[in-house]
Amino acid sequence: MPFAEWGDNCDLGIEAFDRDHKRLLALLNKLHHAVEAGHSQEVLARVLAALNIYVNFHFTEEEELFLRTNYPDYEPHRREHRKLTAAVEEIRQDFEKSASDALSQRVLEFLRGWLYDHHIRFDRAFAAYLEANRATLELQDSSASARAAQ
Ligand SMILES: [Fe+2]
Ligand SMILES: [Fe+2]
Repeated sequence: MPFAEWGDNCDLGIEAFDRDHKRLLALLNKLHHAVEAGHSQEVLARVLAALNIYVNFHFTEEEELFLRTNYPDYEPHRREHRKLTAAVEEIRQDFEKSASDALSQRVLEFLRGWLYDHHIRFDRAFAAYLEANRATLELQDSSASARAAQ
């Protein structure tokens, strides 16, 4: 059983976001597996770096769509993104100092918990906003809603 599972209820119906979220869970599973299997520090560093890059990529992608769709809760959502970005960066720095402590089970569970919690509370709220305002948004910006509907 994977460390972080994608359940049917995880789909938001926004293709780009669902793809990113699956990819983030896959990277988290990869990191967990690398820790469990006792892989080298070099392998762990590579996977952690990939997770760090993808988290930033995904948040930027979400925030661009929030702006294009005039999402009213842009700021609080963005603040949550910054918190995770800072947490991942802190883990990465701790890893450089002490690899084994930095990537403990506790840290991985924190990341998994954060991703699920953010997904359910924040990303789902945006999906609901998009769905409720689809008609208006299509009039304002057909490219944004077309992308969002993919
Ligand atoms: Fe997300
Ligand atoms: Fe988000």
